[in-house]
Amino acid sequence: MKQGKRVGIVGAGNVGATIAYSLAMLGSCHEIILRDNKIDVARGKALDMSQAASAVRSHTVVKVAESMEELVNCDVVVVTAGSPRLPGMSRDDLLMINANITKEVIVGIAKYSPDAIIIMVSNPLDAMTYVALKESGFDRSRVIGMAGILDSSRMAAFIQEKLGYGGGQIRASVMGGHGDDMVPLPRYSTVAGVPLTDVLSDSEIAEIVDRTRHGGAEIVGHLKTGSAYYAPAKSTAIMVEAILKDTKQIHPCAVYLEGEYGFSGVVSGVPVMLGANGAEKIIEITLNAAEQEMFKSSCASVEALIQTLNKNNFFEGK
Ligand code: 2OP
Repeated sequence: MKQGKRVGIVGAGNVGATIAYSLAMLGSCHEIILRDNKIDVARGKALDMSQAASAVRSHTVVKVAESMEELVNCDVVVVTAGSPRLPGMSRDDLLMINANITKEVIVGIAKYSPDAIIIMVSNPLDAMTYVALKESGFDRSRVIGMAGILDSSRMAAFIQEKLGYGGGQIRASVMGGHGDDMVPLPRYSTVAGVPLTDVLSDSEIAEIVDRTRHGGAEIVGHLKTGSAYYAPAKSTAIMVEAILKDTKQIHPCAVYLEGEYGFSGVVSGVPVMLGANGAEKIIEITLNAAEQEMFKSSCASVEALIQTLNKNNFFEGK
């Protein structure tokens, strides 16, 4: 029997497990169900987290789904499953491998949790969100990619580091795809309400923009064997909470565009209002010519990945 809210997480690696941990500590939902092919790892992490939840007197229980069939009647399902890029592998190779994994997972979600809202985390993020949308057949409001909150948080942290003050009071804004051509927006970034452009020079801002674009790679460079997971997981948990609690908060998220910002048929990061029905509204902010140009080239990168999928007949029969 289902009690309260249920969140499924597919992929119990560092990102998936840390999302589960964050939600369990917050008591955001009644049940979290972890699904991973490494079933023993998932079992161990689920037990460990349920015990941590007991320690903080959280009512959240963390369980394991032995198969996709057990990922049933979830309110939200987060997909982190995917292969990391291995030596000798091209971006296109990774694209096809993760698209196939995503397809299999999404077909299961659509079957066993047909009313769920799907949050995509697997890379390449925007293309995988597109795959999830096409394979699920869900309305675009129910298939949302995580990246904008992460990229904006990175930018905010870099601003704090550069200024030496303002921690917790910085609102940074990043739009576009989760790639090297993402679109950090200094004009829409503030420190306690003060425009960023008033407290930093152009060259300091340019440095922060560049560092934000390569924020993921910077962490991989340190970790060597993997990529970031604390900030990606927390950013995802923020989205899950906004949906479960129907907060109507606005966050940058990856969604399928149908004319917004002048683009259609592509997924990109834009400000979105999150609530019980998923991406309930897309907010269209005014971009100047330079920002529009950057957004266009970011969309073009995602479109190129979608074209590669089409060239490989990935969506045949859809
Ligand atoms: C990141 O930006 C790998 O997409 C992940 O950290």
